Amino acid sequence: MAQLIDGKKISQEIKDELKETVASLQSKGIEGALAVIQVGNDPASSVYVRNKKKACEYIGIRSESYELPEETTEDELLALIETLNEDPKVNGILCQLPVPEHMDEQKIIRTIAPSKDVDGFHTQNVGALVVGQQGFVSCTPAGVIQLLKRSGIEISGKHCVVVGRSNIVGKPMALLMLQENATVTICHSRTADLKSVCKQADILIVAVGKPKMITAEYVKEGATVIDVGIHRQEDGKLCGDVDFDQVEPVAGAITPVPGGVGPMTIAMLMNNCVEAMTR
Ligand code: GUN
Repeated sequence: MAQLIDGKKISQEIKDELKETVASLQSKGIEGALAVIQVGNDPASSVYVRNKKKACEYIGIRSESYELPEETTEDELLALIETLNEDPKVNGILCQLPVPEHMDEQKIIRTIAPSKDVDGFHTQNVGALVVGQQGFVSCTPAGVIQLLKRSGIEISGKHCVVVGRSNIVGKPMALLMLQENATVTICHSRTADLKSVCKQADILIVAVGKPKMITAEYVKEGATVIDVGIHRQEDGKLCGDVDFDQVEPVAGAITPVPGGVGPMTIAMLMNNCVEAMTR
């Protein structure tokens, strides 16, 4: 039986720690506020945004909601971001992605002040991560590091294989594992013989966006398997990029879906919001 890495429990621990930190900051007169922008009403985005606002309420920081219609122009959105950049009461700004197709996502990310970019998407924050300087780190990969550390899984010296090279997960994930002294391999859709590369991993982190793609044949006996994917199956149940039932008997430790990486993203967003308050 593999060790089950409990993201629900660990994210709750983190949120409780942050709640205490926020209370102590408030007793010194330091208040926090996160501005959450959503353009259009993509149902999945609405769920994420609702959960982010709920987490703010739980840890004791104010959230400001900006729900803009789908037909909002890019200039209008950029003007709102610039107003929030200048607002001293707002210390974090988040624009839920994806934005409508008539908007340039990178331009929107670039417009958010790096010091308020609690998603860690701005090139200045990404650059800081590359050279090992302080900055906001993308929440999902930061959450994976916390899952590993708080589950007692050694990273230093281990071979970590990251499957997926997105700007939000794969690339920052590889950099964070490198910072933790892992030997890192990044795989993607053009990787030759993906199976045999994955099978070399002590820690296998999967963020490909394909339901149950990683089967037992990809996994070394005793490896730690972290599943970043989340998909709704035809029967209504959720599954990840990893075929849990097949891989669990082979793995040494594994994250479930749901209840693994998912809850960690919001916990780390809250961590970044608290960091923004204390800077
Ligand atoms: N869309 C999917 N994940 C994220 C995220 O972490 N932050 C934002 N802003 N949008 C997202």
